[in-house]
Parts: sequence; structure tokens; C-alpha cells
Amino acid sequence: MASKDKESKPSFTSFASSYKEMMKRPSFLLGFRLVVCVALCYLLWLRFLFYTFPPASTAVSFRTAKLSRPLAATCDPAIAPFYIHRLHPRFNSALVQHGLSCVTCCDVCPHVGHRGLGRPLLRLPADADLDPGLTSWYATHPLAAEVIFHARAERHPCRTADPAAAELFYVPFFAGLHAATNSRQQNHTRRDALAVDLADHLASLPAFGRSGGRDHFLVVGRTSWDFMRDPDLLPEVANVTVLTVERHPGEGRHQFGIPYPSYFHPRTAEDVADWQAELRRFARTRSHLFAFVGGLRPGSDKAAVRAKVMAQCWKSKRCLPVDCNPTRRRCEDPDRVLDVMRRADFCLQPPGESLTRRSTFDAMLAGCIPVFFSEHSAYAQYEWYMPARPEDWSVQLKPTQWDHIEDELARIRKTVVEKMRETVIELIPNVTYAHPDSSATQLGFQDVVDTALIELTKRVRSNRESLNIL
Ligand SMILES: *[C@@H]1O[C@H](CO)[C@@H](O)[C@H](O)[C@H]1NC(C)=O
Ligand SMILES: *[C@@H]1O[C@H](CO)[C@@H](O)[C@H](O)[C@H]1NC(C)=O
Ligand SMILES: *[C@@H]1O[C@H](CO)[C@@H](O)[C@H](O)[C@H]1NC(C)=O
Repeated sequence: MASKDKESKPSFTSFASSYKEMMKRPSFLLGFRLVVCVALCYLLWLRFLFYTFPPASTAVSFRTAKLSRPLAATCDPAIAPFYIHRLHPRFNSALVQHGLSCVTCCDVCPHVGHRGLGRPLLRLPADADLDPGLTSWYATHPLAAEVIFHARAERHPCRTADPAAAELFYVPFFAGLHAATNSRQQNHTRRDALAVDLADHLASLPAFGRSGGRDHFLVVGRTSWDFMRDPDLLPEVANVTVLTVERHPGEGRHQFGIPYPSYFHPRTAEDVADWQAELRRFARTRSHLFAFVGGLRPGSDKAAVRAKVMAQCWKSKRCLPVDCNPTRRRCEDPDRVLDVMRRADFCLQPPGESLTRRSTFDAMLAGCIPVFFSEHSAYAQYEWYMPARPEDWSVQLKPTQWDHIEDELARIRKTVVEKMRETVIELIPNVTYAHPDSSATQLGFQDVVDTALIELTKRVRSNRESLNIL
């Protein structure tokens, strides 16, 4: 025992003394420093790896945590509590399932999944989120307004599940899709059958009967729709308010214009501010005076001006043309469309088959000042959304000016152009459909759907006062 103790003690002291000795030796000191240095480098390398390629789960939970933090989505008092009527799927989801995939024509089915948003885009902007589930950019189909509106309304903080508590009633009939899928139906009895069904159904609801439909609204993402055009066809629903991407000029007592959906569906005010900042940086690199993205529309009277517009644009060095010849499909690429529009000061918006164009909203999203050829292309349409003075954010060319578009636009002073562009950029949140996911959180700006609900609320409340309904 004693000998063991004796042995262990000296062994410790000998280790300690030999350690001191070793530390004094220069070669050991060098080796020790090397080890510390390597260990530090390794730690730094790990740290670098972690921040450059964060583990996927960390990235997602961070993003969702960021998204769900402002969760206290409260109903804006300017928006009345609204109730969404429950309809048979044949009035909405079945139309999406069957018809929507091949609405426009031809051999390509536009992608209208993701609750109407369409295919997610990852290339726009360049630093888009890695996770496709979190992008703000989608190849949204121009007819998708009614589907996106519905998706957004479903999760809206002002939605109520109790019809007795509601002041506004939303009828989620996808009338535009129905019309689009039925446009070739020659038999009018068959074509209108679903609309007649809907009118019968609505007329049987107590909530509808109370007000004669005056507090009810529909959203239509398509321009021409006979159902609401002809009040004699369905007198029961004649007083229902219709939000549509194109009101009928002169027949709009109950019709109000809402913007076409473009490609940007932000979830927060921050997403919007980032894009606006990018456009402001880009302003200095706009290389062309004007741009035209579109095609000839032979056989349409309204589109006669297009031939003039295209001839002038293709001839001018200061115009960027994109020919939307359907066989070439160059206009189905949102990247290309926005890129062209981001490189011009003005974007020409001549009428096509209809007076309004989705392209107007693509242009605004790109910070390109729209140039109109008819007041019905925007001013008489989107009064809820646009500044009172059209000249603050756009140009309208009179028929006498149509033959020298370049001269007319070049004449506008640079400071005026810059001011108009700034107004267009400020308007982006106002004419944007926020991502439906964002409805659960505090958005931080008023998008198309919020503004529509605010204006509908004003209307229904003033109606009630004038009619003395309570
Ligand atoms: C249209 O369709 C309805 C119902 O299917 C049918 O009763 C009617 O005869 C058709 N009309 C014509 C002109 O084909
Ligand atoms: C619609 O409103 C008009 C004018 O206020 C009224 O005369 C008509 O009876 C209303 N229609 C229905 C179905 O309530
Ligand atoms: C956009 O909408 C907001 C809120 O409705 C409004 O205050 C603002 O003036 C609008 N912007 C423009 C440029 O009209």
C-alpha cells in the first residue's frame, strides 16, 4: 500500500514537472499552438458551413416562425363581418377541377393550382427563397382572380361563420370559369343552366331574401359574362354586387372593377417593400422609352389600334417589342415579360379583344408607366384602386396622337416621368393579390381583396341607412 502511494505521488509530480519541462521546450510550444490553431480553424469552418448551408429544417422553421409571429390577425373595423355562402362544388371547386386546366385553348393547360396562384416561380427575383413553398412569385393565369379572391377570403380575419352576425355575403360562384368553359355552348338553355340553378338557390336563402341580395356579392375574373349583363335574364339576382376585372361601360350600377392578378403574391409588407426597393434601384437602367408586349388581334374592332402600335414599336429603336404570337409562346414566360417591362419607361396598353388588359398590372408591377388608348381600359374601371388624377400614374393618348406615339412620349419631361413612375411603384401593394396564406397574419398593407371588402362595406352600410334596414 505505502509503496503504491509512494509510487503514485512521484509519478504525478514527475508528470507535472515533466509538463513544465515540456512547455519550456520550443518544439512542444510550437506543436501546442498548432493544435489550438487547427481547432479554431475547424470551429470557424463549421460556423461558416452552418451559415452558408443551414440545415433545411432550421431554415423552414425560422421562416415559418417569422411568418406566424404577427399572428394576431384582427379584423379591420372598416371591413364588415362577412359570411361565405356554402355552395355545391359544381359552382366552384368542380369548375376548377374540370374546366380550369384547359380554359383558354389549345394544347397547353395553364397551371391554376395553388389556390389559383399557379406554378411557383423561383427565378424572380434573383434571390427568391430556396423553398418553393415560400416564394411570392407565381405564373398566375389572368382568369384566376375569382379563385384567388376566394382563397384569400376563406382565411380572412373578418370572415364570420355565423350568417346572423354578417353584414356582407359572398357567393363563391366561379362565374368566369364557368363562362370560359361554356363559351362554345350554342344552346343557351344549357349554357345558363348553372346560373339559373344558382339564382334559384340564392332566392331560397333567408339571408338573401332579407335584403333582396343587396348585401351579396360575386367576384368574376373574366370580362364578358352574360349572366349579369342581362338583368331580365335573372331578376332575382339583379341587385347582387359584382366585382369584375372589366365592368361593362355604361352598365355598371352594381358592377365594380377589380385588378387582374399579376405574378406577385406577397405575404408581408416587407416582401412588397423589398420589391419596390429593387425597382427603384433598377430605375437608372431603363434603357428604352417604351415597350409593347402583345399580339395582333385580327377581327376585333377594338384592336384596330394595335396594328398601328406594333408597326411603330417594331420600327423604333427606342421601343422594346415582344410579339405574343401564340405559336411562339414568348409571353407565357413571366420572367421575360417583366424583364422587358423593367427596361422601359412606358408600356403601351392598346385594347385587344376587350378594353382592359392583364398586361396593365404586369406593367405596374414592373414599375412601367401604362399608356392607354381608351378611358375604359382603366380609369372607368378601377376607381377603388387608382389615384383620382389619371395623369399622376399613366398616359392616355387620343386618336390624333396614335400615329406618333414615340414623339408624344418623348415630349414628357424626365422629372415628370420619374414622379409618375414613383406613383406606379407606390401603387403596387394596392393592385396586388396577397398570398392567401397571409390572411391568417397581419398583412401590413391593404391588398386588392381588403380594398374591395372596405368599399363593399361602405356600400352596404350606406344602402342600409337609405333603405332603413337594420
Ligand atoms: C337546349 O337544351 C335543352 C336542355 O338540354 C333542350 O331541352 C333543348 O331542346 C335544347 N335546344 C336546342 C335548340 O337544341
Ligand atoms: C332590386 O332593386 C330595385 C331598386 O331598388 C327594386 O325595385 C327591386 O325590387 C330589387 N329586386 C329584388 C329582387 O329585390
Ligand atoms: C394605396 O392604398 C392605401 C390604402 O388604401 C392608400 O392610403 C394609398 O393612398 C394608396 N396609394 C396610392 C398611390 O393611391
